[in-house]
Amino acid sequence: MECITGRTKTTEMNLIFATSNEHKLSEVRSMLPEGIAISGLKEIGFTEELPETQNTIEGNSLQKAEYLSNTLNTDCFAEDTGLEVDALNGEPGVYSARYAGEHATFNDNINKLLKELEGKNNRKARFKTVITYYSQGKSVQFTGITNGVITPNKRGDKGFGYDPVFIPEGSDKTYAEMTLEEKNLYSHRKKSFEGFANYLRKNAVL
Ligand code: IMP
Repeated sequence: MECITGRTKTTEMNLIFATSNEHKLSEVRSMLPEGIAISGLKEIGFTEELPETQNTIEGNSLQKAEYLSNTLNTDCFAEDTGLEVDALNGEPGVYSARYAGEHATFNDNINKLLKELEGKNNRKARFKTVITYYSQGKSVQFTGITNGVITPNKRGDKGFGYDPVFIPEGSDKTYAEMTLEEKNLYSHRKKSFEGFANYLRKNAVL
């Protein structure tokens, strides 16, 4: 889309976001600066599952972006996120999606996490998101980290994943008790996306 206002000319950039996760898609849509639009995998008709076989968040993020870019011969970005819990030596980390098993639901994963933390006083944890922008065969990564604590019980019904048991530092609400706008004040995903948007601006892509 091209929009010309007075002497300012702005061209909207459409980026492909390598995800089929509708929650991630609507979160990232809620934080887009002017001039960027995104399309998820369903919208572009890509139904294949992206490979995620690396043992780090950085590795999986790169793998997804590189695979999609090479398959479709297009620029794109991907993100990978993990919840790292201190008392569990950083678990579930890169295995956050399948913590309770290969086909685990969000609830299964939360229940396992709460069980593993039973009787433990140290509830410190952090969410880490790594975005990879893959453009013309080159990649660049942006990390966002939010520290917080794991609650003893689930609270709230918004969001997804581990949102009902994570309270970010500076708040007394879980992510699942927050609106999208409130979550964005603390969000690990928002922090990494800001790095990405700054990069696009600095490199005159935007
Ligand atoms: P992946 O990046 O899709 O591999 O995400 C791993 C898992 O982390 C997801 O299945 C969710 O359970 C969890 N997760 C990712 N982002 C968030 C978030 O913003 N809030 C809560 N859980 C999340």
